[in-house]
Amino acid sequence: MAVSFSFSAKLLSFLLSFPLIFTFFTHATIFEIHNQCPYTVWAAAQPGGGRQLKTGQSWILNMKPSIRSGRVWGRTNCTFNSSGQGNCTTGDCNGLLQCRSSGSLPITMAEYTLSAIDNIDYLDMSLVDGFNIPMDLIPRGALGIRCRADINSQCPTELRVADGCNGPCVVFQTDEYCCIGTHNTLDKCGPTSYSKFFKKYCPDAYTYPYDQVNDPASTLKYPSGTKYNIVFCGPLEA
Ligand SMILES: *[C@@H]1O[C@H](CO)[C@@H](O)[C@H](O)[C@H]1NC(C)=O
Ligand SMILES: *[C@@H]1O[C@H](CO)[C@@H](O)[C@H](O)[C@H]1NC(C)=O
Ligand SMILES: *[C@@H]1O[C@H](CO)[C@@H](O)[C@H](O)[C@H]1NC(C)=O
Repeated sequence: MAVSFSFSAKLLSFLLSFPLIFTFFTHATIFEIHNQCPYTVWAAAQPGGGRQLKTGQSWILNMKPSIRSGRVWGRTNCTFNSSGQGNCTTGDCNGLLQCRSSGSLPITMAEYTLSAIDNIDYLDMSLVDGFNIPMDLIPRGALGIRCRADINSQCPTELRVADGCNGPCVVFQTDEYCCIGTHNTLDKCGPTSYSKFFKKYCPDAYTYPYDQVNDPASTLKYPSGTKYNIVFCGPLEA
């Protein structure tokens, strides 16, 4: 969890380093989350909560205009009781169906910062903290980011966990993999054999902590008010 937060903090400080004027907006952002997987996914959003999505089901998430940034991911093999308390094998958020905190790793994560600068939405997909479910992040009418590979079945043994594939930082906790300490600078934080493994399968996703700076093409930029589809196990049928 600490890894996700520091990653988002890095992204935010990167975005804030632009010498542009801040503007405020009134467009509500809509995420349409679809489950095309042959199994049930418990979709999660922080902020936003969570919902069980059986195969073919969708969840339309209208973000309040005050929401500036957040993340969307999926959870596997969950059990919740009637009060919405229980657990999941991956992506669990403190045992709650309605997430109020980040998911436990590994997760395939869609991240967004809405209208931080000049009414533009910034979105990306991160595999820095590992992978659990194939995901597409598609702005309405555009190609977006597609990460459909079955990474779990290809996952190196040392990263493999139930229902997922861990990022190397979580497993090895080294400066090199986590880009901390002696590796906490742009020139000392580069791709590793593990990040290249993830990049090979999902070339448009971030795969190590400074990837968003070294690979700016992987950040989607769309005008605020754009609708976004997040599809587990795409493609989305018309
Ligand atoms: C749901 O599970 C939680 C945690 O185990 C428990 O405290 C609560 O009483 C349960 N609720 C119901 C309705 O079973
Ligand atoms: C997850 O929830 C199930 C069903 O309530 C329970 O049997 C199991 O012990 C829980 N596992 C963990 C790790 O909390
Ligand atoms: C859920 O758990 C079962 C039993 O361990 C496993 O066969 C299945 O692949 C898991 N589902 C997902 C989506 O990982």
